[in-house]
Amino acid sequence: MRPLPFLLPLLPTLITAFYLPGSAPRDYAPGERIDVFVNTLTPMLNSKLHSLISHDYYDPRFHFCQPEGGPKKQPESLGSILFGDRILTSPYDIKMLENSTCQTLCRSNVPRDDAKFINDRIREDYGLNLIIDGLPSGEMKRDSKTGEIFLDAQGFNLGDDDTLPDSPSLNNHYDIFIQYHSRDYQHFRVVGVLVYPRSVDSMIIGEDSPDCFSDKPFYLSENNDNQLYYTYSISFIPSEIPWGLRWDMYLHVFDPKIHWFSLINSLVIVSFLIFMVAMILYRTISKDISRYNAIDLAEDVQEDYGWKLVHGEVFRMPNRPMLLSVCVGTGTHLILMCIVTLIFALLGFLSPSNRGSLATVLLICWTIFGCVGGYTSARTYSSLGGENWKSNIVLTSILFPIVTFSIIGLLNLFLVFASASGAVPFGTILAVLLLWFLISVPLSIVGYFYGMKHGPFSNPIRTHPIPRQIPPKPWYLEPIQSAILGGILPFGAAFVELYFVLSSLFGNRAYYAFGFLFLTFSVVALTTATVSVLFVYFILCAEEYRWHWRSFLIGGGSSFWLFAYGVWYWASRLSLDSFTSVVLYFGYLFLFSLLDFLIGGSIGFIASYFAVRRLYGSIRVD
Ligand SMILES: *[C@@H]1O[C@H](CO)[C@@H](O)[C@H](O)[C@H]1NC(C)=O
Repeated sequence: MRPLPFLLPLLPTLITAFYLPGSAPRDYAPGERIDVFVNTLTPMLNSKLHSLISHDYYDPRFHFCQPEGGPKKQPESLGSILFGDRILTSPYDIKMLENSTCQTLCRSNVPRDDAKFINDRIREDYGLNLIIDGLPSGEMKRDSKTGEIFLDAQGFNLGDDDTLPDSPSLNNHYDIFIQYHSRDYQHFRVVGVLVYPRSVDSMIIGEDSPDCFSDKPFYLSENNDNQLYYTYSISFIPSEIPWGLRWDMYLHVFDPKIHWFSLINSLVIVSFLIFMVAMILYRTISKDISRYNAIDLAEDVQEDYGWKLVHGEVFRMPNRPMLLSVCVGTGTHLILMCIVTLIFALLGFLSPSNRGSLATVLLICWTIFGCVGGYTSARTYSSLGGENWKSNIVLTSILFPIVTFSIIGLLNLFLVFASASGAVPFGTILAVLLLWFLISVPLSIVGYFYGMKHGPFSNPIRTHPIPRQIPPKPWYLEPIQSAILGGILPFGAAFVELYFVLSSLFGNRAYYAFGFLFLTFSVVALTTATVSVLFVYFILCAEEYRWHWRSFLIGGGSSFWLFAYGVWYWASRLSLDSFTSVVLYFGYLFLFSLLDFLIGGSIGFIASYFAVRRLYGSIRVD
């Protein structure tokens, strides 16, 4: 996705604001040392995913070679750490344009207990991730559908468990190909990194250097201690790709046709739906209104019927106005966060060359838009007739963050116990808490007071002092049933794109179809609003006037389907081996469903609120 031409004048300012380190080109002279960094070991998505846990490269159980003086941490952005990157130095000795074969990294010794640990990780398809000049190591692959060649940056296999059924081979030799682009005879840039690992039994008795060309693979024995060499070869390959386009090979959108197909499909469904709803509502409502008003003129003693009957009730304060306004405030907060992040992504700022930039931008947006949450919550609460604004301020700014932090903290505990490196370090947790407490909460309070200054929306109709009886209604208008029914359409509009998001998330690949994602988001929001308004109309026609919470539930109904889909995905596409992975998966699934519930619910409630105001503002009541 390229920045749109008319936004070009804006770019310089925006780019400097988000110019993260690591994205400036670096020229190397021939023979200049190129640093190689190692990242965590992550499970690879081949046919099935076996684990969600990542492991530190220098986890002592792996016995990988360490640089002299021990590995050193590299500075990373907050988002990159939150997304699980742990980048450290390595002992590779690579110099620009200097090919070498069979260099020794080190001689390693793996005791039998750790051999079992490593073999288990090989069976779970773990991959190693090197970072050279900011580029992740990849493998050339061919898209089986389109035949295009692309770089798959999932990492490369720790080992191979297809060779012998009961003992997998360990990849202890890496053939590294570095593609370079020459600017002139003195300046060379790295534009691609390919790594092909293989397993070789390179230890020869009586020799003190390894033989990388033996055809015997190397197996780790779980009964004895193991001695092995880690080796690598380097080849520099000239390339025509200029530095500015070096990421294009990585950003492969799988099946663009399916994206388009799903998008057009949901657009058709949605336009049809909106057209139908608009027609039905417009025709019946204008008929209703003219009839209501005509009856009044004729001074007929005929009874009111349908939705007009409940005119004295629709603006009655719902149960738990406090919780409702907090949910709506939080939902709007999250909606804005998603929209702004998506816009940044569309403009091309969240390119994968800035590691973790997506998470960083999400975090910044979440911090800043606290004010919107406060504002919306204040106006919703006062419009509903709530008076306890002090508790409302406090709940708005802390309820949802506390729930989220508790869930993430709990999952983090699990990771710590599994001694996996996905656990967020203490310093990062502290930084996020400070962002929340020192910036987000004060902004939310400022927004709240601003919202109080603007005051409540006026209700077009007075509320009756005595509540009406509610007649029995059909099953599909009960709160839970209507929410589940109403959620089908927004979910249906989203789910193909959701599949892609999930597979790139689990495949450790950069998701790059942000244009599709943005359109899908808009379509889903429109569907959610329409469906909620439609259901609220049915509910009011059934003389059920407690529509506030129902509109929120119907709007959030897609989260039920999201959760169900997540369970299906787990059962059919993943085969998570460890308990920790399963807990992690369901914890995050729950969190995503909760986000979706709040976002959808707020869209549903806000759309219904304004629709109801319009509706009852247009009839005459004595
Ligand atoms: C390094 O190896 C590659 C591939 O084997 C070859 O194309 C290239 O010419 C070699 N470069 C040098 C400087 O020998």
